[in-house]
Amino acid sequence: MAAACGLLLAAPATPFPQAAAQVPLRGPDVAYASAPPAIVDAMLELARVTRDDVVYDLGCGDGRIVVAAAKARGARGVGIDIDPARIAEATALARREGVTDRVTFVLADLFQAAFADATVVMLYLQPEPNLRLRPRLLTELRPGTRVVSLSYDMGDWTPDDVRRVGGRRIYLWTIPPR
Ligand SMILES: C[S@@+](CC[C@H](N)C(=O)[O-])C[C@H]1O[C@@H](n2cnc3c(N)ncnc32)[C@H](O)[C@@H]1O
Repeated sequence: MAAACGLLLAAPATPFPQAAAQVPLRGPDVAYASAPPAIVDAMLELARVTRDDVVYDLGCGDGRIVVAAAKARGARGVGIDIDPARIAEATALARREGVTDRVTFVLADLFQAAFADATVVMLYLQPEPNLRLRPRLLTELRPGTRVVSLSYDMGDWTPDDVRRVGGRRIYLWTIPPR
């Protein structure tokens, strides 16, 4: 199964959907920057990702976290990004790394997208988007789901663990029982 690209949520009516698909849904909430490979490994390790996991990266960039989760850990993964250029890069990376059967990339606004089937959620956003996302993480994710954030915390939601890798902090939370 090829890596799939989701539908535009807010695409204008056009007789040329491919052309519309090149237009971002709206501006990103966070500028693109990619997590270095050692940090990606550390994020997967901190979440203890295994082949039983479904790993979402909300704001997936070039897809490296989801692809690494599939390739190195055998997990399934979903990457969501608002920028079609990123989704195209992620889809190409999944093809190059031979994991298109286990990963999906979706062009969508992460604040509108569904992610309730995740067992692990990866974030590399900013403080404000983290806090805006927090109520949905706590109410929509199943208890036991792990949330990992690179560089930014979740305000007064105390993390279960914090690691320092290459001068950056990586935070881990577990969704508590309801
Ligand atoms: C700092 S980059 C992180 C990329 C990747 N997760 C990594 O760690 O390598 C943030 C990404 O979030 C995306 N983004 C920003 N706002 C978004 C939104 N509202 N919905 C979906 N993606 C968004 C950007 O396009 C960018 O690719």
